[in-house]
Amino acid sequence: MSEWMSALSLTKPVIQAPMAGGLVTPRLASAVSNEGALGSLASGYVSPQALEKQLIEMKELTDRSFQVNLFVPEERQMPEAELVEKWKARIPRAKDAKPFSDLKEEWNDFEEKAELLIRYGVKACSFTFGLPPEETAEKLKKSGCFLFGTATTPEEAKAFEERGMDAVILQGIEAGGHRGSFLPVKGEPALGLMALIPQAKDALNIPVIAAGGIFDRRGVQAARCLGADGVQVGTPFLLCEESSASPAYQKAIAESKGADTRLTTLFSGKQARGIVNQFMKTYEADEGKTLPYPLHNTLTKPMRGHAAQSGDAEYMSLWAGQSAAKLEGPTDVKTVLEELCES
Ligand SMILES: Cc1cc2nc3c(=O)[nH]c(=O)nc-3n(C[C@H](O)[C@H](O)[C@H](O)COP(=O)(O)O)c2cc1C
Repeated sequence: MSEWMSALSLTKPVIQAPMAGGLVTPRLASAVSNEGALGSLASGYVSPQALEKQLIEMKELTDRSFQVNLFVPEERQMPEAELVEKWKARIPRAKDAKPFSDLKEEWNDFEEKAELLIRYGVKACSFTFGLPPEETAEKLKKSGCFLFGTATTPEEAKAFEERGMDAVILQGIEAGGHRGSFLPVKGEPALGLMALIPQAKDALNIPVIAAGGIFDRRGVQAARCLGADGVQVGTPFLLCEESSASPAYQKAIAESKGADTRLTTLFSGKQARGIVNQFMKTYEADEGKTLPYPLHNTLTKPMRGHAAQSGDAEYMSLWAGQSAAKLEGPTDVKTVLEELCES
């Protein structure tokens, strides 16, 4: 058994990916942890108060390790007013979006959430969208929290190692949801796991966890052959009865084929992989011309919320990795984990 697994008392080398947007509930994450893998809560778009409620619930549902994911605050600049107005006029229901000035508070709750993790003795924490400040990483580590960073290049992985992380999650281009990229690159921050795992493994002295497109034992074994010490898996858990993904979202995943997903900035202003739908097709020519993250996300929120409520998959963000084509669902946590590793 790898050391990172012993540190977290895991019997399976699998992390259920944190998936922000209300998709992962304590019920799902605790079911994963209770099976001997690492369940994860996503704190993105969740207030500190709501996160605390989930932590309390989590403690009632499992006494095993689980992870909480934190979005690292990025430097943000307000875009030109003209661009804001242009998008407000074009995105369906954008007039119902929260005013940007109200977002200030939301952008600054990172430290408050880190304090909650310490207060509740959370055993593991992962960071995405950048490096955590040194003092925060140190405080969490001192509290006994195992730290994971999310990297999309070997350079980002190295930067996390130097920031004191205990392990790095390598997010391949196959992965569903937002890219964790944060350092500039000469080419594209778009490495497939086949290239990324060995490059990062050879450059690092800490465990590396592979994420992106993995859904069964073949993927786990391939990742391990390339040097990965474990895997992080997201999309397959969206089809579990324990997940709170909407039926329309689950149907879109179950019906998707081969190359039905792509990276887009159109929903949030940051690159993320999802199943192509009408919204993505309509605004395709505007890829890369959106407002910065998370402002664009705020503008599309009322549209996405309405679509989710009315079961209209054409206007929801259908985040999914390249494994989506092989998923059928419905399923449950136990079955997903059995597909990934022998019990
Ligand atoms: C719906 C969805 C939401 C996600 N949200 C987060 C998140 O909040 N934080 C994070 O670090 N990663 C997030 N990810 C990325 C995952 O951590 C992971 O990289 C990805 O799920 C792996 O690819 P797979 O979905 O093909 O298994 C999300 C992925 C999906 C599919």
